[in-house]
Amino acid sequence: MNPTTPETQVAAEGTTRMSRDTLSITDNRTGKAYEIPIKNDTIHATDLRQIKVKPDEFGMMSYDPAFNNTALCQSKITFIDGDKGILRYRGYSIEELAEKSTYLETAYLILHGELPNRSQLEEWTYHITHHTFIHESVKKFLDGFHYDAHPMGMMISAIAALSTFYPEAKDIFNKDSRRKQTYRLIGKMPTLAAFSYRHSLGMPFAYPDNELSYAGNFLNMLFKTSELKYRPNPTLEHALDVLFILHADHEQNCSANAMRCVGSSHVDPFSATAAATAALYGPLHGGANEEVLRMLLEIGSLANVPAFIKRVKAGETKLMGFGHRVYKNYDPRARIIKHVADGVFEIMGRNPLLNIALECERIALEDDYFVSRKLYPNVDFYTGLIYQSMGFPVTMFPVLFAIPRTSGWIAQWEEMLLDPEQKIARPRQVYLGYDLRPYAPLDQRS
Ligand code: ACO
Repeated sequence: MNPTTPETQVAAEGTTRMSRDTLSITDNRTGKAYEIPIKNDTIHATDLRQIKVKPDEFGMMSYDPAFNNTALCQSKITFIDGDKGILRYRGYSIEELAEKSTYLETAYLILHGELPNRSQLEEWTYHITHHTFIHESVKKFLDGFHYDAHPMGMMISAIAALSTFYPEAKDIFNKDSRRKQTYRLIGKMPTLAAFSYRHSLGMPFAYPDNELSYAGNFLNMLFKTSELKYRPNPTLEHALDVLFILHADHEQNCSANAMRCVGSSHVDPFSATAAATAALYGPLHGGANEEVLRMLLEIGSLANVPAFIKRVKAGETKLMGFGHRVYKNYDPRARIIKHVADGVFEIMGRNPLLNIALECERIALEDDYFVSRKLYPNVDFYTGLIYQSMGFPVTMFPVLFAIPRTSGWIAQWEEMLLDPEQKIARPRQVYLGYDLRPYAPLDQRS
């Protein structure tokens, strides 16, 4: 709310009106009282600007490093109640979607707001499936990467490069263009991921198979060797699809915020998605699943778990896959993933690191250090074990997160673009540096 609007009133000290939907603030520097509207349990940060000591001052700001308590948008996509461990896409619980939906149907839901009817789903699936091929030139520069290049680095570069192949993607306020880039992004992410993986193995690329499901085709492009037709194991295909559903969106996390922030400059969606993928790469975000596996390998045996937990409590290291900015309860995705893991282990054999993970979890859930800080397993704690059992190298783990998250990123980006309240993202700062000082010539500097 702009301070000049009638809804914002400066009230004289001692005469502050009582109202259910306003916040009364008294500035003790001046003795002035302010009444600020409350909407959806928030105040508008710009309403604070009217609070000043001298008229020519900039006015009060809120200071919130890392957005701990700042809503940057209004959204209708994903709902999280971190204390209760609830996650819903467009009002549907993650538990029900994981059980009854497919990734492509869920992606449609996230992007369009409603579940598709039969013909809408068929059309959507057709378009995604028919945008899985990548330009042969993209293959050429994937080939240019070093043999041990991290696949996330390859993905970030390749996604950004797609914008040069589709210059019409810059037409971001054209609905048809946005839809086309959506098909391309969701369709091509598994292809780029699989090609990055095959490049690291020195294996020829396996092209998409339009007869397979989204997850099945991904497995085909990853693992097909000399067989004429690759047939994915249905349990593994289903497990991957469920994992994709669980990772499809997670409201205003680091990478969604990167997507919105970069997209707010009105750059094309490929460039914004490359930025979001880069954000996801970090070990505190989507790279955590990779770190969990490295941590479990480092612990090495059940006997070493107590000593490792001791080091965590001493602040020497972190229990990766534990803790979350929003969940202060069991991450609902981690609960579902434990069931998915059982199905995968039945086919692929029990991952020997599972016992170490379970022991870490058992100790942590009883230990006051973790309990008092509300540190519970997050989505990444068990995914790595499943991915490893399915035959993925550790470096592919964050890639397996980026593929399904693409639908969430695009939904967040589109919501931002169409929101009349949004502008280019440009936070303020509290400047604590030098005041104006004269330039010192080189020979006068100490
Ligand atoms: N192991 C040990 N201690 C932890 C952990 C952990 N995994 N996570 C948080 N803590 C401690 C912090 O040291 C801090 O302790 P203090 O109060 O004594 O200083 C306290 O818990 C609060 O932690 P913050 O860092 O303030 O919590 P924040 O919300 O900023 O961080 C984060 C959340 C980044 C996820 C953090 O819990 C973490 O680093 N976890 C490990 C990495 C991880 O698993 N990331 C994946 C997150 S899920 C996702 O992105 C898909």
